[in-house]
Amino acid sequence: MTHKIILDTDPGIDDAMAIFFAFQHPEIEVLGLTTVYGNVPVTMSAHNALVLCEMAGENVPVTKGVGMPWVGKESGYAHFVHGDNGFGNVPVNSPKGELDPRSSAQFIVDMARKYPGEVTLVAIGPLGNLALALRLEPELPKLVKQVVIMGGAAFVPGNVTPVAEANIWNDAYAAEIVFAADWKLTMFGLDVTLSTSFNQEFLDKLESLNPTLGGFVNQTSQFYIDFYSANREDRVCFFHDTMPLAYLVQPELFKIVSGNARVSTDPLNIGQTTVAPPGTTASPEWLNAKSIEVAVGVDEAKLKALYCETYAQ
Ligand code: RIB
Ligand code: CA
Repeated sequence: MTHKIILDTDPGIDDAMAIFFAFQHPEIEVLGLTTVYGNVPVTMSAHNALVLCEMAGENVPVTKGVGMPWVGKESGYAHFVHGDNGFGNVPVNSPKGELDPRSSAQFIVDMARKYPGEVTLVAIGPLGNLALALRLEPELPKLVKQVVIMGGAAFVPGNVTPVAEANIWNDAYAAEIVFAADWKLTMFGLDVTLSTSFNQEFLDKLESLNPTLGGFVNQTSQFYIDFYSANREDRVCFFHDTMPLAYLVQPELFKIVSGNARVSTDPLNIGQTTVAPPGTTASPEWLNAKSIEVAVGVDEAKLKALYCETYAQ
């Protein structure tokens, strides 16, 4: 089965690994990369997406999307995680390609209308483009097949605050809109993405299997590993963004639970994703909230094997 997807992204080192996986996997058809601010400003996200397409030899539309949160001022960027250029300060050539003139939100709506019921939205950055697309086209939930996101932390602590994960924290009001929409949403949060770490041996293997794309992931991940290993005994990193894509092609690798989900927008807990599994609450606040699917476990060995065989294609 081929999955038609739009990848909404803020590249970003782990975004790059995910984008290459999507381009490489034979069962994934990438309709376009829609960029958003998050790890880096949106102009850099868009530039970096064009660079990644050219590095992979892919000629797909790339759009520039929202550069600000739904509410509030411009947030800080994660250059301390992804480097000044979003690629771990590894120099890259300026892209030759041009951006598609549409906004990311408009592109999402156009593709959903063109392929009704067929498109999976894979969001691996803050959710402002999806929220805006919902405002542009209120029927969007009926037009897309499903939404899978990297974001949130259901039953584990956050990575930006004790309760909030970066993609949700960066645009909590947009996330609230996206989580409440009437579409099938599957969340790959820190519950599952921090359960699987990647070391230098894995990176070297990826490079041996695909010197161009694996080599770039290896090079750029050195900065990323330094960040993650600062307070750890072992030198590892976490490829958060590839998990939603792995789920599309091998869902059996994941343990999924359902629950009614709320996104907090109060100042202290802004960006917290709270999920109430069935039978755990009588609170109308949660019982009336939308039910989503949440990944809470993965077969680590089979996941890594999938990544390697896909890069080796
Ligand atoms: O919290 C991890 C998420 O935030 C990943 O998508 C990473 O790329 C950053 O966007
Ligand atoms: Ca990302």
